[in-house]
Amino acid sequence: MKKVALITGITGQDGSYLAEHLLKQGYTVVGMIRRTSTVNFERIKHIQDEIELVSGDLLDEVSLINILQTYRPAEVYNLAAQSFVQTSWSQPVFTGEVTGLGVTRMLDAIRSVDPAIRFYQASSSEMFGKVQEVPQRESTPFYPRSPYGVAKVYGHWITVNYRESYNMFATSGILFNHESPRRGREFVTRKITDAVARIKLGLAQELRLGNLEAQRDWGFAGDYVRAMHLMLQQSEPDDYVVATGETHSVRRFCEIAFGHVGLSYEDYVVQDERFMRPAEVDLLIGDPAKAISTLGWQPEVSFEQLVTMMVEADIALLKDEHRL
Ligand code: NAP
Ligand code: GDD
Repeated sequence: MKKVALITGITGQDGSYLAEHLLKQGYTVVGMIRRTSTVNFERIKHIQDEIELVSGDLLDEVSLINILQTYRPAEVYNLAAQSFVQTSWSQPVFTGEVTGLGVTRMLDAIRSVDPAIRFYQASSSEMFGKVQEVPQRESTPFYPRSPYGVAKVYGHWITVNYRESYNMFATSGILFNHESPRRGREFVTRKITDAVARIKLGLAQELRLGNLEAQRDWGFAGDYVRAMHLMLQQSEPDDYVVATGETHSVRRFCEIAFGHVGLSYEDYVVQDERFMRPAEVDLLIGDPAKAISTLGWQPEVSFEQLVTMMVEADIALLKDEHRL
């Protein structure tokens, strides 16, 4: 019998990489999708015939219960969220409903259908916010700086609470920023690599950004989904930081991305107040020692490889789109 895994957020960046990884591991993959008026399967269209898609929403517990009863998964990966930090200031209540309370809805659905299901919660380094320790590890106190970060802290603690209250296998992966050619274009890395490709191909003249000094611990999404799977194969549920242990500024990301196509970022990047945040997370750098020693996990893609992979992918995509 093949193991069944349910992924919420399968149409997102991580969902698509995780689905590919679980298929390779021999799982039956069920992906929960929201009803939309237009199809948004861009990231999963290459594996659509190999996975099962089912309608549901983290806002609707009835749909979660029905899905669990129908597919009887052994593992649930809860990746669905309103995941863009900037949007969480304009839609703070919605962000709390999906990114925070959505976790409780799923945990409680699991508790009522089959408490033996193993659960993964997509927690975030945004929970460390105004960092209380450098580097950040599992024991570092949280100090979130956005409604998104606050919602993720709630999601993390409700996961721990269901583990302790009901003895459920509920695990929280505290993942630092991870990127890829499939990253949404609103996030700074993809915004930069898309702009570099456009400028290089003569399709744009400038790139407007906010805070260039923010520092992030950026890894490759394809590496990070392997850690999610490993967490659910352990004998006990726990919390794990997943990071590279390196940090770089947005400015440095620009420098490498523009440099890769022979351009200088200073000639094209314009700072724009519209992209500044009411409260910023200045510095994130994780300590992945526990994930390395307990899970045997290692990142394989370096920061420079990640940036150049994303620039190359955007150039290829635009050339194709514009028949260049
Ligand atoms: P993403 O690309 O923004 O994908 C989010 C997914 O959630 C999409 O599939 C989206 O569906 C779905 N979704 C949103 N609201 C939903 C709802 N109410 N019900 C059901 N599905 C809903 O995010 P990602 O980068 O893959 O990240 C995956 C998870 O990891 C998120 O929880 C994020 O907060 C967390 N995380 C990400 C990072 C990172 O650096 N990428 C780091 C730490 C934690 P639609 O396609 O229909 O919009
Ligand atoms: N998006 C964006 N757009 N960010 C900008 C810009 C811009 O024009 N200019 C500067 N930045 C800065 C932001 O202020 C922030 O400090 C940094 O670039 C990274 O922003 P994002 O790429 O939007 O990611 P994030 O770090 O806020 O959040 C991502 O990582 C979290 C993990 O730490 C998201 O994937 C979250 O869902 C995830 O939890």
